Amino acid sequence: MVQWMRRGRSHMIDSELSVPLVVPQLGEEEVAAVAAVLRSGQLAQGPEVAAFEREFASLSGCPFAVAMNSGTAAIHAALEALDVGGGDEVVTTPFTFAATSTPILMQRATPRFVDIDPRTFNLDPAAAMAACGAATKAVVLVDLFGLPIDPSGVAGLKARGIRVIEDACQAVGARRAGIPAGAIGEVGTFSFYATKNLTTGEGGMLTTGIAAVAEAARRFRHHGQGERYEYVTLGYNYRMTDVAAAIGRVQLGRLAAAGSARRANAAFYDQELGGIPGIATPYVPAGSVHAYHQYSLTIDAKETPNGANRDAVRAFLAEHRVGSGIYYPTPLHVHPLFAPLGYGPGDFPIAERIATQILALPIHPALERAQLEQTVRALRQAVGAA
Ligand SMILES: Cc1ncc(COP(=O)(O)O)c(C=O)c1O
Repeated sequence: MVQWMRRGRSHMIDSELSVPLVVPQLGEEEVAAVAAVLRSGQLAQGPEVAAFEREFASLSGCPFAVAMNSGTAAIHAALEALDVGGGDEVVTTPFTFAATSTPILMQRATPRFVDIDPRTFNLDPAAAMAACGAATKAVVLVDLFGLPIDPSGVAGLKARGIRVIEDACQAVGARRAGIPAGAIGEVGTFSFYATKNLTTGEGGMLTTGIAAVAEAARRFRHHGQGERYEYVTLGYNYRMTDVAAAIGRVQLGRLAAAGSARRANAAFYDQELGGIPGIATPYVPAGSVHAYHQYSLTIDAKETPNGANRDAVRAFLAEHRVGSGIYYPTPLHVHPLFAPLGYGPGDFPIAERIATQILALPIHPALERAQLEQTVRALRQAVGAA
């Protein structure tokens, strides 16, 4: 039976809240799987990683899956495997976690940001294509919050010879137009960080249908070795442990049920919050199966009944013991890291506005009906719509 381990030591979990934002789904099966690995004496990459890769490949609809020790490592390996390097430009979104873009810098390539679609909060593949120039080698598109990118836009990019990386770090188990997340781009990347829908504590996966890309990624994660102790290319230690893979295999078995629970929670919020002036619930295009890593809505203070803005709503929720999160408070182009590229405030007005309006509500599969109702009640009161 699954236990909901509420006394986890994660800094993301505030046990004082009656509606916590995140509760990892971990039970005795994970404990037993880890114990078996410890007893086997094979702790580093071994048979558990190989089995996890096979099972994940089957879930993602890709012939090849290469386990990594983080999502960041998977994105880094994807860029290397697609031969993105110095002098290349990579078109991407400024409204994401830093690790969508930092591996571009690690490869000494240049991120080129493009503003986002206000409905999906994401860089539309068609907008990405319009921004591609002669120096553009690749695009990194994100399945933001668990909503996969539009496959029809990706086809156009591929036809122009632009390499497409799908950062599916938040989208395990999602689909669009029948295609699993991670199989929409040429290369997909996943994160299994502690708060993700499928966790191994830390971990990642690269998926692809291109054998040479999988082979390059395997080399990259293992010090660039071809034969043992033959160093062919620059590589890193990006290997996953068998301990992590054993947890991941159990989590894989929970994924479908957990995904359905997240979608049912989202449907409840959509129904209860959708009609409130000033609140825009997440947009889900037809044909999409959203993974709801986050349920992020926007709050427009010009429209809410009492004029409350996002920060006032968040403070009210906290007072009423309802957790919430802001992903992301500051778009990437405004951070000092990207200033040398010439970016600054005002460059991407949609991303900058959404950053002031976005709010993530608790959506995890352990939520009980009373907690969902409490969240809705508190939010309605916060905006004067009670
Ligand atoms: C969109 C996105 N890209 C990349 C990453 C990096 O993954 P990791 O934290 O496993 O390195 C994450 C997760 O944190 C993410 O949410």
